[in-house]
Amino acid sequence: MKPVLVLHGPNLNLLGEREPGVYGSLSLDEINQRLVAHGQQLDLEVHTFQSNSEGALIDALHEARGWARGVVFNPAGYTHTSVALRDAVAAIGLPVVEVHLSNIDAREEFRQRSFVAAVCLGRIAGFGWRSYVLGLQALAGVLEDQISSS
Ligand code: DQA
Repeated sequence: MKPVLVLHGPNLNLLGEREPGVYGSLSLDEINQRLVAHGQQLDLEVHTFQSNSEGALIDALHEARGWARGVVFNPAGYTHTSVALRDAVAAIGLPVVEVHLSNIDAREEFRQRSFVAAVCLGRIAGFGWRSYVLGLQALAGVLEDQISSS
């Protein structure tokens, strides 16, 4: 199985309790368990990490260079603010899929700007926890294509 990182940004540790009408009723643990199970079907070994700290997210991206084949990343609020996270995504040279539970384009104007978008392969947003599953499917496809073209 190909090891991949699913990286969750700030406040996502409160999923299930936090604005369930926007982000759904599943806890982060429940989502992570589902992602590990879906990953197995896609031949992906899913490792998950969440932090509320920008620096810890940057460190996790740097460390992923040493072991992961790609990243599914929900930078949460930092999506809209962080040049440093964008630079980290650009620096690591791994395929990164941006995901969001909510449809950020249909929300407040400030959420419609993503600092990481241009350095990610693409973005999946608006499908609740399934955005992550779709992100894993996209990443699995990209990794398959890498193997068949090498
Ligand atoms: C989010 C959307 C962001 O705008 C917000 O700050 C989050 C979660 C999402 O998954 O929908 O914390 O990334």
